[in-house]
Amino acid sequence: MTDRDADATAAPDARADGGTAPANAPEPELYDDLSGQVALVTGANRGIGRAIASDLAELGATVYAGVRSVAYDLPDEFERVLLDVSQEGDVQEALNRIGESEDGLDVLVNNAAVGHFGEPLHEERTAHIDHTVSVNLRGPMLLCKYAIPPLLTTETPRIVNVSSGMGALGEGQSGGSPAYRVSKTGLNGLTRYLHGEYADEGLIANSVCPGWVHTEMGGAEAPRTPERGAETPTWLARFRSGPGGRFWRDREVIDW
Ligand SMILES: NC(=O)c1ccc[n+]([C@@H]2O[C@H](COP(=O)([O-])OP(=O)(O)OC[C@H]3O[C@@H](n4cnc5c(N)ncnc54)[C@H](OP(=O)(O)O)[C@@H]3O)[C@@H](O)[C@H]2O)c1
Repeated sequence: MTDRDADATAAPDARADGGTAPANAPEPELYDDLSGQVALVTGANRGIGRAIASDLAELGATVYAGVRSVAYDLPDEFERVLLDVSQEGDVQEALNRIGESEDGLDVLVNNAAVGHFGEPLHEERTAHIDHTVSVNLRGPMLLCKYAIPPLLTTETPRIVNVSSGMGALGEGQSGGSPAYRVSKTGLNGLTRYLHGEYADEGLIANSVCPGWVHTEMGGAEAPRTPERGAETPTWLARFRSGPGGRFWRDREVIDW
């Protein structure tokens, strides 16, 4: 099993079966050029994270690519930063390194995640629960904890949490993968918290489902390319005065 449930193509519209779609958000104002801005993307060596990092670099941002190995081959325009999001020391060091070189941080993209798909909770290995929650939920919380101070020094700080429709409370929530589902529900909760706590200070925090994407996690049958999966996350990273505290897919607000 993969994260296929998350995809709008594979699971056409969970809200068509009786859920209530929220009113859509007003059109955001976007940055067309990110020159002079600094972004940190976790899990940037492959898949959707790499595509988001490439998009942001192409828009002119200085992109810190959070990766777990010095051996990964990265585009020249990426600034490699060693970052296992489950290791608090790595998170602190990564933010320290950015702080030494930059005046602040404009964009944080919490993309890195793992998935142990398939088993229902009573058959799930505890190690899989621990690993999933540690990377998919605790990791983004620590990233936010250490990134918020430098983010709040910039003009329009943005946090993009790459979530999944599998964590949406309006979805059926069956078919196994409990740790992955709950970690993404929790990540959405983090987005709401960030919005509640920091929106008044200018932070724009949003969650996004990239759809079902052909990556190591999404599997070979997934219809979307990583570039397509990166489109809405990159768009959210370009918000200049856009709405925050929402859950998006394909540039539209979806139900939590
Ligand atoms: N693909 C889909 O269909 C789909 C659907 C909905 C949502 N999503 C979400 O989209 C995001 C990206 O998924 P993807 O499909 O691109 O996955 P992927 O190809 O499996 O890539 C996952 C990335 O996360 C990194 N990572 C894993 N554990 C890490 C850790 N402890 N610390 C730092 N980085 C770590 C991996 O690094 P290594 O190479 O070092 O392992 C890799 O760069 C995830 O949040 C996922 O939940 C994906």
